[in-house]
Amino acid sequence: MRVAVVVACVLWAVSEADGRPACAYPPAQWCDSHHIAVACQVEQQCLGFKLKKEVDPVMISLYYESLCQACRYFLALQLFPTWLMLNDIMNVTLVPYGNALEKNESGKWVFDCQHGEQECTGNMIETCLMHTLQDADRYFPIIFCMELAADVIAAAQLCLQIYEPKVPWTNIESCITGDLGNKLMHQNAELTRALNPPHDYVPWILVNGKHTDDLENEAMNSLFNLVCKTYSGEKPQACTKADGRKSIPKCMI
Ligand SMILES: *[C@@H]1O[C@H](CO)[C@@H](O)[C@H](O)[C@H]1NC(C)=O
Ligand SMILES: *[C@@H]1O[C@H](CO)[C@@H](O)[C@H](O)[C@H]1NC(C)=O
Repeated sequence: MRVAVVVACVLWAVSEADGRPACAYPPAQWCDSHHIAVACQVEQQCLGFKLKKEVDPVMISLYYESLCQACRYFLALQLFPTWLMLNDIMNVTLVPYGNALEKNESGKWVFDCQHGEQECTGNMIETCLMHTLQDADRYFPIIFCMELAADVIAAAQLCLQIYEPKVPWTNIESCITGDLGNKLMHQNAELTRALNPPHDYVPWILVNGKHTDDLENEAMNSLFNLVCKTYSGEKPQACTKADGRKSIPKCMI
């Protein structure tokens, strides 16, 4: 590593002397784009692997409902842990609505959820959390905390208080009880109805926008392996370590 830095510094000094554009980037960014690689004269060295930021993350979309057991299993024990380890190479979209139905009652959307009124509340809380907090780093741990809890709805206020920076519950509540929450849930309904093929169960998982029963089964069994396998760029260390783990011998008698 040190040798590479020294060599690169020499190359950089040479390029300055040649009157070419100077390399004004720290070494960590040299392979981030073709432009920087050229400026820093490390084009050849960067060719060995795909330029990291030019590779699209693996898109995982989850269509679910807050009280469905299989959805809770997938979200809390597959999706969230995988995202913790691989968030550099994946992008998660959550659409809580699932098998609910909606109707327009004099201009306001009224929802009928598979597991009753409580489930509609859970979907709404999670939707309002996403909208209010915006950033997955902030809302995903809270949604995970809710879905892992015995009582999804009762856990919401507690889960909101676990993570910094703390957000007052009233900020979320005003979305839930107001027109905003109603409108956001209607958007979830439309996104769910737009699925092609249409969903016939939940959790309904899309990998890079695509759903098949095989992808669904792979995701349910080991989303981590599926994301590592699907990512077309240089595999992050977490992926290669996971492969290594398989070869650890069992403890024989
Ligand atoms: C994830 O996907 C969404 C929707 O396409 C996009 O707006 C967002 O920028 C993506 N985030 C990352 C980190 O790629
Ligand atoms: C919902 O119903 C109201 C009147 O009951 C109507 O004005 C409005 O256009 C309807 N909205 C949609 C999207 O159908």
